[in-house]
Amino acid sequence: MSYVIPDDLMGALSRARSVTVLTGAGVSAESGIPTFRDALTGLWSRYRAEDLATPQAFERDPQMVARWYDERRTMCMRCEPNAGHRALAQLQDHMRGLGRELVLVTQNVDRLHQRAGSEDVIELHGSIMTWRCTHCDHEQQELGEPFDSHPPRCGKCDGIRRPGVVWFGESLPDDALQSAHSASVHCDVFLSIGTSSQVYPAAGLMDTAAAQGARLLEVNVDRTAASDRCDWVLCGRSAQILPILLKRLMATGH
Ligand code: OAD
Repeated sequence: MSYVIPDDLMGALSRARSVTVLTGAGVSAESGIPTFRDALTGLWSRYRAEDLATPQAFERDPQMVARWYDERRTMCMRCEPNAGHRALAQLQDHMRGLGRELVLVTQNVDRLHQRAGSEDVIELHGSIMTWRCTHCDHEQQELGEPFDSHPPRCGKCDGIRRPGVVWFGESLPDDALQSAHSASVHCDVFLSIGTSSQVYPAAGLMDTAAAQGARLLEVNVDRTAASDRCDWVLCGRSAQILPILLKRLMATGH
């Protein structure tokens, strides 16, 4: 299937000094990682988020919650970045080569953007590869086999460790939120890719961008709560559309 990329979108991207991209679970769907809210395959269709992704759930049953996140961690490690991740990394490289910038903000915790080569990725909801001690705050990157026991213990103080992701009801990391806000305030074009735009403050970044005059592009297989606010909506799979967008942009030399 060939996608028609609107000429005015190509014009806006080729003139943009700064592009900010917000990605959601849809970008990793084609790598085999379930999204949250897709009716049939979404994680939340089989689990109640409140039973797993809250501090109260971890307090209530640290073993079950840690095991569930450890299973997702090792599943993410087995998955590979897809053509959409790679296109975004190449687009950032292309723009940097021209003295322009592309800031990638993600809600995803799977680190696939980084594995595809994207740099300075802003992780609004943390990373499932980072596990933090609930007693001494010591953080460790965990890129190996499943933990021997759940929840894993801290190598420094033997305290209980939790996944370094943002749970419902928790604040986002200050530095990540500030950087994401700044990137939205300064961009000429804001791309919202593979997100249902239901979870704030991430979903509000596009409004921050629009408020200072940025043009908005949404790439999604469905329409979302944000579609009507966008200048362009490309309906389709990100792993298919993003490489086409990249190819068209590189062909313009901008
Ligand atoms: P959702 O599951 O809410 O939305 C995924 C979006 O991706 C939907 O709009 C799908 O239509 C779209 N989609 C699915 N496959 C796609 C594809 N191949 N190409 C393009 N789009 C596709 O996931 P998020 O919007 O990322 O928060 O959810 C936001 C946050 O809610 C998550 O970060 C998580 C969750 O609670 C925390 O864990 C704090």
